[in-house]
Amino acid sequence: MRCVAGLAYMKIEDVAESSASGSGSDRRTRRILGHLVALNGMNGVISCDMHGSEPGDYWSVGNLISVVHDGARLVGQVVDITTSDQRWRTDGINSTMVKMELCGEVVDEAPGKPMFYRGIRSFPTLGAVAHRIRAADLRAIFAVQTGNVVEVGTLTQNKEIAATVSVEELVRRHFAIVGSTGVGKTTSVSMLVKQCVRERPKLRVMIVDPHNEYASHFRKQAFLLDADTLELPYWMFRFEEMIDVVYGGRKPNPDESDALYEVIRAAKQRFAVGSRNADSTIRRSMPQEANWVSADTPVPYRISDALQILDDWAGKLDPRYARADLRSLKHRIDALSHDPRYRFMFGKVMVEDTMAKIVGSLFRLPIEGLPITIVQVAGLPNEVVNAVVSVIARMSFEIAAACHGEVQVALLCEESHRYIPSNPALGFEPTRRAIGRIAKEGRKYGASLCIVTQRPSELDSTVLSQCSTMFAMRLASERDKDIMAQAAGASSQGTINFLSSLADREAIAFGEAIPTPMRMKFGDYRLFQQLSDQRPLGAEENADKSRDLLRQIVARLRGEYQPVDTAGVSPLKAVNG
Ligand SMILES: Nc1ncnc2c1ncn2[C@@H]1O[C@H](COP(=O)(O)OP(=O)(O)O)[C@@H](O)[C@H]1O
Ligand SMILES: [Mg+2]
Repeated sequence: MRCVAGLAYMKIEDVAESSASGSGSDRRTRRILGHLVALNGMNGVISCDMHGSEPGDYWSVGNLISVVHDGARLVGQVVDITTSDQRWRTDGINSTMVKMELCGEVVDEAPGKPMFYRGIRSFPTLGAVAHRIRAADLRAIFAVQTGNVVEVGTLTQNKEIAATVSVEELVRRHFAIVGSTGVGKTTSVSMLVKQCVRERPKLRVMIVDPHNEYASHFRKQAFLLDADTLELPYWMFRFEEMIDVVYGGRKPNPDESDALYEVIRAAKQRFAVGSRNADSTIRRSMPQEANWVSADTPVPYRISDALQILDDWAGKLDPRYARADLRSLKHRIDALSHDPRYRFMFGKVMVEDTMAKIVGSLFRLPIEGLPITIVQVAGLPNEVVNAVVSVIARMSFEIAAACHGEVQVALLCEESHRYIPSNPALGFEPTRRAIGRIAKEGRKYGASLCIVTQRPSELDSTVLSQCSTMFAMRLASERDKDIMAQAAGASSQGTINFLSSLADREAIAFGEAIPTPMRMKFGDYRLFQQLSDQRPLGAEENADKSRDLLRQIVARLRGEYQPVDTAGVSPLKAVNG
């Protein structure tokens, strides 16, 4: 061993280390020891001598290092590094100051069994020895202790150690992936989603895909709906969603909107009373009277009835609404129902009660091997996207709630900041409310969110704060970084500083699904896909049970249909257990 200026500069074999530590390549590199020279709460400075020709790269910013103290190895993250005299000698020794943030400690519970604990029991004294962290300690720090664990990539600091997350924690609440365009959000979230559905057979994932890019990630594992195949009848829209469609996102004149409400209600009641289908749940609920039907109740009605009713009203001697308003409304509805771009809403010639079929195929009941639904909204008219997302988000919550834990629904919202913007003046209120409701109450009812956005600062902060796990990929804007720093909390500031310099596919993951903030790189998707294609998704299921469930859901959405905040849904016990 060679000692220079009181600091050890030695070969790796000279340092006592457990047999589990390090890879072959680690062993060949030299290990530089440092000593603690300053400590202020959780922030410390280590002085160490770097050899000019072989600086220890494990002392680099972002890496974890160990400080030996009191039978434990304290874990610190390097946040700043500088030579004492601001010079570099290529063939000599460079005295270096390494600033670090302590984050926890590793204790050997038994020989070869390191355990990581957050926080520090007692602080080291000056002179405590610091060294590169052992591979076994790194594994212990990032080992998920509970539930189903899935691998999503490798640690940046040591590519031989898998980056793992807990699936339970990921979907029990909500998670977010943020990062600039092109860093790999869509690809990474697809990997996560696949891992989640594989481990959680009750989980359904509803993907709202604004750029039609998810289909290639799921190939034959997802049920794909595009502008031609999507079927979301107008009668399943709530009144406020329908208003948005009919008026293309603009505010209607109040009289026209009143008339629209009344005409939809009247047409729905006419259909419900006149329905000849004895088996229909609509008819069975209350055959003679249809007062229970409001413009929000998801029961069918005919556009022809609505137009006829408008005509009747306009023909009255003393019409309740101005004739001009009734005419304008009639023209709008008529034009929409004939617009080929709106085929997904008005396409069916025959109006039938297809609610069970539609809900069943959207939310995969029965699952038929495809637990993921991708709704490609890129081909839909721009003015209608908000309303469609509102319907999907609302149904995701209602269906999860109606299933009492039999089915869980995760809504994946790509470009979330469009639907739930931080600026209250932007966005569409019903969509914001539907997604916000999943964010706030979803956990109790088995509904969760996957938020994907490149502008976290433009996303409603209450929704972001409900995400219990985050994968922060590269972000350039200061505002976005600030938002993530707030989300990460004080304990991860050191890690969050690196957000603007992360490589593609790299992420800083923090939150409940990960034991401690982790800098990681998502695995290569092509390899992952090859492996996952060999194992089909979707659990074995009892299709009859699913159909029963579907009947209950439809009855519930209709019979007990109530406005948002008073829904009498009871909290699930099975979901979280
Ligand atoms: N895990 C990965 N494995 C392989 N290639 C990836 C991975 N993540 C991203 N890429 C590549 O990077 C490109 C951008 O990724 P994408 O997921 O679309 O980024 P974003 O959604 O953030 O814009 C893709 O074309 C993809 O080929
Ligand atoms: Mg993307």
